[in-house]
Amino acid sequence: MDGGAGAKRLIAVSNRLPIRIIREGRGYRCLPGAGGLVTALAPVLRDRGGLWIGWTGSPYEKGHELLLESASKETGYGLVPVPLDNEDERDYYYGFSNEIIWPLFHDLQTRCKFNPRYWYRYLSVNKKFALKVKENAKVGDYVWVHDYHLMHCGFFMKKIGLSLRVGFFLHIPFPPVDIFLKLPWRKKVLEALLHYDLLGFQTMRDKRNFLNSLSALVPGVKLKRRGAVSTVEYLGRKIRVGAFPISIDYKGFVRDCDSKEVADAAWYLHEALPDRQVIIGIDRLDYTKGIPERFFAFSDALSRFPELRGRVSLVQVVVPSRTEVPEYQELKREIERLVGEINGKFTQSGWVPIHYLFRSLDRVQLLAYYRLAEIALITPLKDGMNLVCKEYCACNLEHRGVLILSEFAGAATQLHSGALMVNPYDIEGVSKAIFTAYSMPRPERKKRMKRLRQIIKKKDIFWWVNTFLNAAFSKDLKDFPRESVEEYIPLR
Ligand code: UDP
Ligand code: G6P
Repeated sequence: MDGGAGAKRLIAVSNRLPIRIIREGRGYRCLPGAGGLVTALAPVLRDRGGLWIGWTGSPYEKGHELLLESASKETGYGLVPVPLDNEDERDYYYGFSNEIIWPLFHDLQTRCKFNPRYWYRYLSVNKKFALKVKENAKVGDYVWVHDYHLMHCGFFMKKIGLSLRVGFFLHIPFPPVDIFLKLPWRKKVLEALLHYDLLGFQTMRDKRNFLNSLSALVPGVKLKRRGAVSTVEYLGRKIRVGAFPISIDYKGFVRDCDSKEVADAAWYLHEALPDRQVIIGIDRLDYTKGIPERFFAFSDALSRFPELRGRVSLVQVVVPSRTEVPEYQELKREIERLVGEINGKFTQSGWVPIHYLFRSLDRVQLLAYYRLAEIALITPLKDGMNLVCKEYCACNLEHRGVLILSEFAGAATQLHSGALMVNPYDIEGVSKAIFTAYSMPRPERKKRMKRLRQIIKKKDIFWWVNTFLNAAFSKDLKDFPRESVEEYIPLR
């Protein structure tokens, strides 16, 4: 650790950097990273500068540093790679993170593969991340570790002698205690988390689940549950635990969506789908997102309410994700089979019920879809927060859209008063909600959408970061001095 400059910087640590590097011919190419964590954190670091430590998404090669250096100049914050090899990727990323913790924490324990090899690799990679923090941190920096891949990073930071303040935020749900109990390394994970100074969860329910697991599994913890931020005392340490619902850069979405480029793109897309209401679903390829269940409900709606035929189209965007995991490959096949089946059953001349896109969208296309869609159908079986629903509302400049939202998205706790709430497992319930949304008169749409946008505007991503930093050490983002980008570019 460099103790020299005494600068106070924000250091974000997450499995993924905001960009991915892929091999292309003999060289490399940078692509934006997908998913809610990247969307949420990028504007925070862009605002203040700082460092982002993470993985590039591919096995480390020497040429990556130059790419990251020039990407840092564009982003305005430093990008520090943690080199992972093929075994790390297989056993820590695909294995422990995405075949154990991801399904378990989304209440899908039957999908877990509790392979002990995954656990040991998870520990060694968490140590690699901690060492990378040590190499780059300075006295006074605030280290903020993110998500389920890195629950042991704070533990290793302390073990190798780093005494910086360090917080942790879990972007996915924390499961109820009877599900968490299935994890073979349950006690070790909880004890490791107690090496952070502040633990943040998306909702009060996640926080409560965590505290209940602590009480059940770690003897000797003392809990003070009073107030928004609870305190845990353990082995002489005090750990704060709070719920901080993550959000989006609301103003940034409104500004970009209000551009001529997006308005034109939306117009062209809607022209291709004339005289009908467009329903959108935008999700990473993931079995937690409830895509097949959504298709069953849409198909039910077309059967039950024949007047919808020719009058609504579902545009389902599926962003490729974790394609090495067999469950994800199977899901893709199932989605494609269902699209074929439903389109085969209902298509008429001039109208196709489901338009299916399996790819990433660039920002203009994404915002154009948000802007043109009359209905957003967001029905995850379980989701930490779900930012797509917040982005859809932010982009609804004319207040004419309707949000249909799953009760099991973290966002439900904030958005239930303006959305049509559904249980994603209830095919008939979702089907009826689609019809209700389709038939909803303009004034009611406007009233609901205004309410939703107010909530999201008030508690945007900057509110989230300031609330977290305030709970961590009574500071907010403004207390981090803005320095020139050179300050943040890691030295080679
Ligand atoms: N998104 C993306 N690429 C796309 C389409 C969407 O990166 O082609 C973004 C979207 O804007 C949102 C994020 O992916 O910010 C998805 O976040 P969410 O919280 O809804 O779900 P997650 O993927 O994190 O589970
Ligand atoms: C969710 C997780 C993130 C993750 C993202 C994309 O949002 O909470 O940590 O980065 O999904 O998944 P991936 O496996 O591609 O990083």
